[in-house]
Amino acid sequence: MKIVLLGPPGAGKGTQAKKLWDEFKIPQISTGDILRAAVQQGTQLGKRAQPLMKAGKLVPDDIVIGIVEQRLKQADCSKGFVLDGFPRTIPQAEALEKMLRRLGCKLDRVISLEVPDDVLVERISGRRICPTDGSVYHVLTNPPQRAGYCDKCGTGLIQRDDDKEEKVRERLRVYAAQTEPLKALYRKKGLLSEINGVGSQDGIYVEIRRALAPRNSARA
Ligand code: AP5
Repeated sequence: MKIVLLGPPGAGKGTQAKKLWDEFKIPQISTGDILRAAVQQGTQLGKRAQPLMKAGKLVPDDIVIGIVEQRLKQADCSKGFVLDGFPRTIPQAEALEKMLRRLGCKLDRVISLEVPDDVLVERISGRRICPTDGSVYHVLTNPPQRAGYCDKCGTGLIQRDDDKEEKVRERLRVYAAQTEPLKALYRKKGLLSEINGVGSQDGIYVEIRRALAPRNSARA
């Protein structure tokens, strides 16, 4: 299954991508995670991306397109993948279509998680992540068992640089201007499912499964 998860910052893309991985064993390809790893490792890519990410701006299309193109060629993507945070602009969507055509496949579904801005700001300001294994928590709605530490590996949790409120507002503005137009594009292609991203994480996952199911059974 080849899926794109669309949605503003904090909509729950990463959270739901992990659930899809748990069930279908298809890799989550998060351009945000890949870029953050490059920043942490201090690579050339990381050095270019860091100031833009910190400011809540998008990294240039050519950089992220190159990252995704390399990643999709890896063997673990042959049965499917969940793209989390890509595409984010019309040129990225066009590049993705070309990449998939070259690989002889196409997208099965684009899921857009719909969440109002005030809820997003609340979610992001409470988010804490594990810098070791990438686990995501929220101080109120999804706290770790021991406050401040990852349940899985015990590492101290951190807040992302771009999760401060003023950066979140800029990320929301960028999403509305550059990413939201992708919904019309995918709607026209008959690929879009808009899902209410407010509610329990499991309940939202049930809706995602429902959006994916008819196409699965049609193919089986
Ligand atoms: P990226 O890492 O992709 O960030 P984002 O899109 O802003 O999304 P987030 O990771 O903030 O949120 P999410 O939707 O994954 O939510 P999550 O599941 O964590 O990108 C970061 C930066 O990298 C960009 O700003 C840009 O600079 C650069 N970049 C990345 N991709 C790029 C691209 N393609 N082109 C150019 N630049 C790019 O959940 C959020 C919180 O809410 C968590 O605490 C979670 O526990 C909680 N939560 C989740 N679901 C629920 C629920 N149902 N109810 C209550 N709480 C919930």
